Amino acid sequence: MTLVLGVGLRQGTSYDELRALADTALAGLPRDEVLQVVTVDSKASEPAVARLASELGASVVAAPAGELALQDVPTPSAAVEAHVGSASVAEAAVLLAGASLVVPKQRSAGATVAVGRLPFAAPYPLGEREVVHRVLAERRDIRRGFVDRPIADDVLTRVLASAHRAPSVGLSQPWDFLLIKDVPTRRKIYDLAMAQRDAFAASLPEDRRNAFDGLKIEAILDTPLNIAVTCDPGRGGRHVLGRHADPRTTWFSAAIAVQNLWLATRAEGLGVGWVSFFEPAEVSAVLDLPGHVELVGYLCVGHVEAFPETPELVQSGWASRRPLSWTVHHDSWGQRGLPGAPASSIADDARTAPQVIPVGVQRIEIVVADTPETAALGRAEALVVCVDSVKPDWNFGVLWRPARSVDEAVEHGVELVRDLGLQGVGRIEVSQPAGGLAIAQGLVRGLELGGRACGVAVVSGELGL
Ligand SMILES: Cc1cc2nc3c(=O)[nH]c(=O)nc-3n(C[C@H](O)[C@H](O)[C@H](O)COP(=O)(O)O)c2cc1C
Repeated sequence: MTLVLGVGLRQGTSYDELRALADTALAGLPRDEVLQVVTVDSKASEPAVARLASELGASVVAAPAGELALQDVPTPSAAVEAHVGSASVAEAAVLLAGASLVVPKQRSAGATVAVGRLPFAAPYPLGEREVVHRVLAERRDIRRGFVDRPIADDVLTRVLASAHRAPSVGLSQPWDFLLIKDVPTRRKIYDLAMAQRDAFAASLPEDRRNAFDGLKIEAILDTPLNIAVTCDPGRGGRHVLGRHADPRTTWFSAAIAVQNLWLATRAEGLGVGWVSFFEPAEVSAVLDLPGHVELVGYLCVGHVEAFPETPELVQSGWASRRPLSWTVHHDSWGQRGLPGAPASSIADDARTAPQVIPVGVQRIEIVVADTPETAALGRAEALVVCVDSVKPDWNFGVLWRPARSVDEAVEHGVELVRDLGLQGVGRIEVSQPAGGLAIAQGLVRGLELGGRACGVAVVSGELGL
């Protein structure tokens, strides 16, 4: 049940008076399901209203007097109508909120309270909702500052129970949790991670490699517990509901279990660091996993000194967060914006963006080509952007941007340069074949436009093919 409290009151009515009236009106009703306290806008900042809403975990909604006056209230009062223009603020507020009245209006010397019911399930009270959002915001990937303290079994069981409550395709629950405390095993895993760390470092251009040198990428031996989260893609047999058309949903399910675990540990004050510097089969071999079980996530878990407010990769300048408004599209791809705000293309956004100070220092070369320009792939700082409609072979050095129109190519260019800027790129040298396709030219124009908007220097030239 979702409840709405309509409140009318004289200026200066005490909290105690309003509270007593609300208690009477809410007797026998689930008071923690009051979503809103609604009153006329001129009274919305009355201290008694704010405090009542806060005590109930509800939000204050200010209703315009003119709209309240339009409501057909069951117990009108001529005196109130003469004073505020509405025949009953409390009842009108409930009706205006879309609720139906459930108890007769209550009156005291200075206030009236009506209770209404909304036809949808109640969210958590405000304070509890804030805690949920806080856990989501304050979950961090932790690799430093672990303390030498074991994890209590009951805490670990709660965390694992939350992970095990994750949604899964067809309720197949494809995950398992392998708890690894054994130090010799972890040392072998650590060695695998170090080998991959070296391989990644060797693949980087020099300026990026220097930045990477300062980053810690795991806490395998610094934590009392490692957890390998695995996926059994065949779990549940042949007819798992929802999996037949998209088998990836099995792995998505296991990844969601990791996220559940990550959030629950944060609430319990435990840090988690996800390590993916592995060839999964090598980890499976060290852990002696059965052949049908695959590694999804390798987690280092322990008590920590503190949780940083921002991701380490942000603090170190390695990468930045994407704005939410870039990620939300309305009805068709490219019409972006926050809910309620006017949608616009990322290219239009770039055209009107204020001049931004560049933060990235990395220099890269972009080769825009119809088909993959493999010669460029030998250089670590090169990125081939392929605009052909046929997907090229998978390679991290080749980015596929098959624009369906020149406008979309411009969009892709803007988005690409902005995302590279978020990954620490400060200068891009672009080359494309002489007389290249209109689509390729559009993409280059987008790179230039986006570069101006986000402070990345984009220099174009022709590819000497
Ligand atoms: C699938 C996955 C794999 C990751 N692998 C690593 C890793 O190997 N090493 C590392 O330092 N961080 C790793 N991370 C952590 C990310 O760097 C981190 O989530 C990101 O920088 C955002 O920071 P936050 O989690 O603190 O918000 C991984 C995260 C995910 C989701």
